[in-house]
Amino acid sequence: MNSALLQPAPVASVAGRWDEFAGALRLRLSPAARVRREEPLAPRTTLRVGGTARVYAEPASEADLQAIARAAQAAGIEVFMLGRGSNLLVPDEGVEGVVVALTHEAWAEFSPRADARVWVGAGLRLKNLCGLAAKAGLAGLEFLEGIPGSVGGALRMNAGAMGGWMFDVVEEVRVMSLDGKVQVRPRSALHVDYRHCAELHQAIALGATLRTAALADTGAVKRRMDAYAHRRHESQPREPSAGCIFKNPPGDSAGRLIDTCGLKGERVGDAQVSPVHANFIVNLGAARAADVLALVRHIRAQVRARSGIELEPEVLLYGRNWKDVL
Ligand code: EPU
Repeated sequence: MNSALLQPAPVASVAGRWDEFAGALRLRLSPAARVRREEPLAPRTTLRVGGTARVYAEPASEADLQAIARAAQAAGIEVFMLGRGSNLLVPDEGVEGVVVALTHEAWAEFSPRADARVWVGAGLRLKNLCGLAAKAGLAGLEFLEGIPGSVGGALRMNAGAMGGWMFDVVEEVRVMSLDGKVQVRPRSALHVDYRHCAELHQAIALGATLRTAALADTGAVKRRMDAYAHRRHESQPREPSAGCIFKNPPGDSAGRLIDTCGLKGERVGDAQVSPVHANFIVNLGAARAADVLALVRHIRAQVRARSGIELEPEVLLYGRNWKDVL
């Protein structure tokens, strides 16, 4: 018997497969695109925990993104979209797939039209969207002020704050399927719910046409944004976090339920239930994803024991299913 056949595959061959995939991408993408191996993701998330992406790519055009989607599909590799890195928990062991960030300026378009509609690219930060809208005298997007996300992430999650939801202002979304096909989907063809858009689980948002309210005076828009910013600063923590960690259960508030259990300030390692708002887990400096997961389990158990309510995580767990770790 050939003993070589019994040897486990050398680790290098696994790394080699990723090297090969990254190399093939570099050849297919435009010179303005970036492709990297083992890119640390913690600095690219608002919670600042987690490991590396086996492959990380910044496409510079729809054609680049199409090439990534098709190459990944052909190789059986999963694509993970990274927005602004909020609402996201990256496991300590990293992500087995290609993580794609729409950070190139080509994705940050803001094009107002004469009818108070505006086309926005998926990579545009909500903060910049609000600033540009205010400058252009467009009203109705102020509730997005202060959500630390991009347009693409806000579409994927139907982000919301201050009583407004992203899809309240969406007229149509331009999407790419995982095999690279591009389509424009009207709002009416999308299944949208609290922190959820079904179609964007299996497709990538490229941008959207937003409907703003009638042209308003710039001062009024700015004042409303300042009022929201003030309210947020008073009620939400400043330390790194992923935003609210659990969804609000129907008719109740996760923050109130966690607070009632006396969990504010509770810690696992450097992960802490924020003393400011109990539905935020903050990173005091050196938290690991494992600390955050342990704290999530602890909070759920306490809330379940006290109120019988099962809190569901709102943040996405990259590359893993929450049900496997809870
Ligand atoms: N509350 C407490 N203790 C706390 C936190 C809140 O008793 O530690 C009480 C508050 O007093 C209030 C109620 O819970 O009576 C609701 O709290 P809050 O107004 O802060 O709103 P929320 O439901 O906790 C939601 C969104 C936030 C969004 C805010 C502001 C969810 C899970 N959270 O928070 O969104 O910024 O409204 O509009 O839907 C996010 O999704 O990541 C997020 C931060």
